[in-house]
Amino acid sequence: MPEFIPLSVPSIQGNEWKYVRECLDKEWVSSAGSYVDEFERRIADFSGARFAIACVNGTAALHIALKLAGVRRGDAVLVPTLTFIAPVNAIRYLDADPIFMDCDSFYNIDIEKTVEFIKSQTVFKNDATFDLTTGKKISAIVPVHVFGNAVDLDSLLDVCHERKIVAVEDATESLGTKYKAGRIAGKHAGTIGKLGCLSFNGNKIITTGGGGMILTDDPRYAEKAKYLTTQAKDDEIRYIHDEIGYNFRMTNVQAAIGVAQLENLEKYLSIKKRNYFQYKRPIDRIPGLHLAETPDYAENNHWMYALQIDKTVYRMDREQLMSLFDQQKIQTRPVWYLNHQQKPYRNCYGYQIEKAVFLHEVTLNIPCSIGLKTEGIERVISCLEKR
Ligand SMILES: Cc1ncc(COP(=O)(O)O)c(C=O)c1O
Repeated sequence: MPEFIPLSVPSIQGNEWKYVRECLDKEWVSSAGSYVDEFERRIADFSGARFAIACVNGTAALHIALKLAGVRRGDAVLVPTLTFIAPVNAIRYLDADPIFMDCDSFYNIDIEKTVEFIKSQTVFKNDATFDLTTGKKISAIVPVHVFGNAVDLDSLLDVCHERKIVAVEDATESLGTKYKAGRIAGKHAGTIGKLGCLSFNGNKIITTGGGGMILTDDPRYAEKAKYLTTQAKDDEIRYIHDEIGYNFRMTNVQAAIGVAQLENLEKYLSIKKRNYFQYKRPIDRIPGLHLAETPDYAENNHWMYALQIDKTVYRMDREQLMSLFDQQKIQTRPVWYLNHQQKPYRNCYGYQIEKAVFLHEVTLNIPCSIGLKTEGIERVISCLEKR
C-alpha cells in the first residue's frame, strides 16, 4: 500500500521539544510566560511591524483587529467571497455585514472591481463611506492574501485612505510574503494596512498548534489589542474591568513552539518555493492542467499550490480527480465553498461575482507540506499523467 501523502501538515524539526520542555520544567504553561513576549518580538522583527500581539488563533486576531478598526453593529465590511470563512465570521461577531467581492487570477480580492464598487455604489459623507443601497457605513475592508499570494494593495490604499475605509489585512496564510515592486516594495504582507493578522494553525507555514498574531505600527492599536485580548483588566489586582474583554492571549507553551518554528522559517520558505517549481514545469506540460501562477510584484511564500483543471481538455473534472487521488492515498482539497453561497451569508450582497465561481469550480489544492519529498511530488505528478 502506498504511503499516505497529506495536504498540509506541520514540520517539527527544531527546538520545539526543548522549548516546550523548558515551559513544563519551569511550570510556566499559561499566557504569562516569557515565550509569548519573545514570540511577539521575533514576529515583529521578522515582519517589520512595530508591534505584534499574540492571540489564541487567527480568527480571534481578526475579530479584535476589526473591532479596533472601528467596525460596529450595523456596519458593512468589504471581504472576498473566495476565502476560508474565518474573516467573514469575524465581521459577523461584531454584528456587521459582509459585502462580498470577486477575486482576481491569483485568488485574491479583485481590486479593480472593488475600487469600481466603492466609486459607483457608495457615497462619502460626514467623513465616512456609505453603501448607496443599504445606507450602511462601510468601515473596513479585509484583503485576504489567499494561499500566500500578495494582494495588489498598492492599487487599493489610496481609495481606502480617501474614503476612510480601514484595511485589516488577513495575512493568516502569507507569513513570509514580501512585496518587491511599487510603493510598498520591501514590506511584508500583513504590515501595510492599519492592522494585519497572522495564523499559526497546524496547516500554516509555521505553527503553534493553534495561534494568531495582530500586527500594527500604531501604538494605540497595539496597547488596546493587548488590553482586549487579556480580559480588559483596568486594575489587575482588584479585578476592575471598564470594558468587555476577551480571553484571547496565546499561551507560553504555544509560543515556545512558535519561537522554535520561527527559527526554521527561512528554510521552510525555500522548501515551499523549490517544491512549487518542482510541480510547476511537469504539471504545465500536461494538456488541460495548469499550476496557478503567483504575482510577480511580490516574493510569495508559496504556502498552498493551486492546480487548475480544464475538464474538456483533461477529460476529467475536479471531483473525479479528487477521488482518483483519494484512491492513491494522496490528500487533495477543492478551494473553499464560496462565502456568498454559504447558508449564514446567502442574504448578503455580492458585487459582480464571476471569476470566483469559475476558480472554485476548476481548482484543486495539492500536497504542499514542508516534509513533502521529491518522491511524493513525483507520485502526485505521475497520478496526474497516468490517471
Ligand atoms: C484566510 C484565513 N483566514 C483566517 C484563518 C483563521 O485562522 P485560525 O485557524 O488560526 O483561526 C485561516 C486559517 O485557518 C485562513 O486560512
